[in-house]
Amino acid sequence: MSAGTFDAAWALAHDIPGWLTPDQARLLWDTALAASPAPVVLEIGSYQGRSTVVLGSAVAQTGGRVVAVDPFVDDWKYGSPLTQGRFEAHLQRAAVADRVELLKEYSTRARPTWNSPIDVLFIDGKHDVWTVLDDLKWATHVPDGAPVLIHDCFSSVGITLGVLTLLRPGARLRYRDRAGSLARFEVGSPGMAGRLRLLAEMPWWARNLGMKVLLRLRLNTIARRLGHDSPYDPY
Ligand SMILES: C[S@@+](CC[C@H](N)C(=O)[O-])C[C@H]1O[C@@H](n2cnc3c(N)ncnc32)[C@H](O)[C@@H]1O
Repeated sequence: MSAGTFDAAWALAHDIPGWLTPDQARLLWDTALAASPAPVVLEIGSYQGRSTVVLGSAVAQTGGRVVAVDPFVDDWKYGSPLTQGRFEAHLQRAAVADRVELLKEYSTRARPTWNSPIDVLFIDGKHDVWTVLDDLKWATHVPDGAPVLIHDCFSSVGITLGVLTLLRPGARLRYRDRAGSLARFEVGSPGMAGRLRLLAEMPWWARNLGMKVLLRLRLNTIARRLGHDSPYDPY
């Protein structure tokens, strides 16, 4: 496996606990690699570094850097007092620590004082609608035409409700495509076509919420018959 390829980056990231699928890692890799030379990638929500390692490996090819914004919350699902140490160890192991600057802070607290350009924005932090609405405001630092990626975009109530505000007049993010529920937007007026593309994903969102309900009710067999062959939530 050659160094500097997606396969090499994924080999370093795939066993780090997290929720990023190989297709989604590939989308992050391709997007970061296609960004301007020496890009600044801002990641909201890093956990143990699965996505950070992919992004850090991509920007290492073009002289860029990743700013990882995460307060490392201590909760039942997304972290413990050990998370930051694991994150740092994973970056060291992947030899991307020198590409990543950690901003240990809640995205909503870091945003009001942030004042420099961002070439790629990746949102994967807190999933409630209020935080998502605030996280979308980081896109004011992203230039026209540049990418904004949102994880769990069509598999979480809070995120999807936040993203649906992009249907309003004057919105500045245009939906392009997705890998699973990792959605890629770009900065710019969505127009009618962009709005319809986003609306067309609503049946997929409803399907994912339905699967989550079935899994909560321990009806995994029915979920499997309906095409969700995993004990984990769709993402
Ligand atoms: C779903 S995990 C991120 C997964 C990571 N991107 C990966 O690929 O493995 C969510 C992370 O968001 C962090 N988080 C929670 N609230 C946050 C906030 N307000 N700002 C930034 N990060 C937050 C949590 O500490 C957790 O590490």
